Amino acid sequence: MSLHAEFNWQRLIQQARGLLGVTTNRISNAANLSALIYLEVPDISWVGFYFLEGANLLVGPFQGKPACVSIDLGAGVCGTAAARGSTLVVPNVDEFDGHIACDAAARSEVVVPLIKDGSLIGVLDADSSRLERFAPADVKGLEALAQAYLAAVD
Ligand code: SME
Repeated sequence: MSLHAEFNWQRLIQQARGLLGVTTNRISNAANLSALIYLEVPDISWVGFYFLEGANLLVGPFQGKPACVSIDLGAGVCGTAAARGSTLVVPNVDEFDGHIACDAAARSEVVVPLIKDGSLIGVLDADSSRLERFAPADVKGLEALAQAYLAAVD
């Protein structure tokens, strides 16, 4: 059982819906959702957004240490999840070929692609300094937050 199986994702998702209902602006909502996740979810070392610009993902609002600015589609965990259009869970980043180490302390990672009206607009990325931090319930919770974000923005 995960250490965080008891984490109340439903409560956080409700809170996020309220927070994201104030504006449809992508940047404002990305900023507030990053801050909410970083504050509330245990053992997150970095969380934030990359937005698609041409063939690259460019860093958007986030919480944590300064990050890599640009990631090619198909590169790293973010670019791979974005190219596939499906969530990528990496229990141990050292075992993921091509992982981009923005923060040497990161040990596990989840990337959720953001697909709005059928088009990729970016990704939501969460890192932890703990190995195997993300249990299935945590992945579902992050996916639900990504959906709440997509439903709230233009
Ligand atoms: N580790 C990511 C890069 C982004 S940072 O984690 C913030 C990757 O491999 O795509």
